[in-house]
Amino acid sequence: MTLSRRRFLLGAGTLVGACALTDALRPVRAAPGMSMPMKSADRKMPQLTAPKVPLLNPTSLSKFVDALPVPPIARAAGQRTHPAYPGRTLPLYRMQMQAFRSRLHRDLPPTPQWGYNGSSPGPTIQTTRGEPLLIEWANNLPTTHFLPIDHTIHGAEKDKPLVRAVTHVHGARVPAGSDGWPEDWYVPGKSLQYHYPGVQDAATLWYHDHAMGITRLNIYAGLFGAFTVRDAEELALNLPSGDYDLPLMLCDRLIAKDGQLYYPVSDDPSAPWVSECHGNAVLCNGKLYPYFEVEPRRYRLRLVNVANTSFFDLSLSHDHPFQQIASDQGLLTAPLERSHIQLYPAERADVVIDFSGLDGQSLQLRQQSEGILEFRVRDRGGHDTSALPAALRPVPRIDPASAVQHRQLALGEQDDAGGNAMTMLLDGKMWSDPISEKPRQHTTETWSFVNITGDAHPIHLHLVRFQIIDRRPFDLFAWNAHRIVKYTGPAQPPPPHETGWKDTVRADAGMVTRIAMRFDGEPGRYVWHCHFLEHEDNEMMRPYELLPA
Ligand code: C2O
Ligand code: CU
Ligand code: CU
Repeated sequence: MTLSRRRFLLGAGTLVGACALTDALRPVRAAPGMSMPMKSADRKMPQLTAPKVPLLNPTSLSKFVDALPVPPIARAAGQRTHPAYPGRTLPLYRMQMQAFRSRLHRDLPPTPQWGYNGSSPGPTIQTTRGEPLLIEWANNLPTTHFLPIDHTIHGAEKDKPLVRAVTHVHGARVPAGSDGWPEDWYVPGKSLQYHYPGVQDAATLWYHDHAMGITRLNIYAGLFGAFTVRDAEELALNLPSGDYDLPLMLCDRLIAKDGQLYYPVSDDPSAPWVSECHGNAVLCNGKLYPYFEVEPRRYRLRLVNVANTSFFDLSLSHDHPFQQIASDQGLLTAPLERSHIQLYPAERADVVIDFSGLDGQSLQLRQQSEGILEFRVRDRGGHDTSALPAALRPVPRIDPASAVQHRQLALGEQDDAGGNAMTMLLDGKMWSDPISEKPRQHTTETWSFVNITGDAHPIHLHLVRFQIIDRRPFDLFAWNAHRIVKYTGPAQPPPPHETGWKDTVRADAGMVTRIAMRFDGEPGRYVWHCHFLEHEDNEMMRPYELLPA
């Protein structure tokens, strides 16, 4: 592979409140095709890219003056039959992707965005196990994009339409034809009908755009929403429900002074891709610093990290605890009291927060040390009949010894001579390389992600739920010299909050992260990828094929 494209990282130094650019400080970067990892001292400082527009100073905004939006629950538009479900009629939902404007904050002018049914997050799609449904995803977007497309990225070449979209329900067990294959995008004026069989346990899933080469831009524009699955076992637990159960979708954005969304570009106009995108403020269900009036009782909040690359470290003021009840793919075995919840992009945590006894008080949800949402506790005379049972459900551990295949997959990147990331790679392969992962239906496999980059990457597999077996440090020099994994320390089992069912796992730098899963679901082509959207769009996504049993 030639090092033809020079990439620059976004410099965050000039951004108020933005995460610092730590990339240049990371100890070691190595990539397939490079014989030795470079140490930071050898690395040229990536050229910093100043934002091209004046950015908002979020500290100048009045805090907690807007109510937290709660996305509406999607309603079926009618009932339809479908050949895959003979003798049944299924509810049909219509979701329209469209441009709209909304105020991110009382004191900002309306911000142009894209969303489903005219909002971002879009309506929450509530489903129940055993009840299949149909969704028509209609692309009613304009024909030009308002964010900068990099035409040198695979799948986003100049001959492709500027505006393309295809929706994927993250974490859903659906047939390949309804999964939102990235190349199955379609243009404004077109729509696609997908079917969702409803064959999975209760969980907080989310839907989002997945169009090849521009997913990062389409999601940044606002194309996402929550998709919840309920089931009888979870309902029987009597957890907080109805108005006391809501998604909280968090993302950071670079917001310009005039309220527009700014997406960063490199200093090379022919290749504007940046390897990470960190915002200057966090949106909670589409608002900056909202407040939420709550009753002195239990609430269930479904926290979803829908950011492009940023990781959230969430806590409550006054050391108030979260009770975490679920991770990506549903309930844990028991509630876990936690002071901090850390979420990488696409990860979820359902938490119960108990506001009882706090009438008249306020609590803040913090991202690191900054309050991003204020809860105001007001007694309205209600009575909390919900429960937080001591046991939630069994999560039987997968025995790695039952696996029929153990795959070792490197997470790498191709750098230029200056050490700037140009392309992110899975197992040294590009998206268009032949399919190499072909698990067989109803078998168990383990996948080991050998992270040879200087960053953690959130790795996501479509279709399946998995368990984290362990993370283990390895010798990067031995890998670079001989492509062998030489462990340098003991395997670390996942902490309790990571022992539930997952669909996205943080693969740490310098570690081998091992997961186990059983490939149930229908045969066909699916994808797995890094959920840093900048990486996913630039080759850190691969197809896999589920072969029939
Ligand atoms: Cu959140 Cu490929 O998906
Ligand atoms: Cu997914
Ligand atoms: Cu990545």
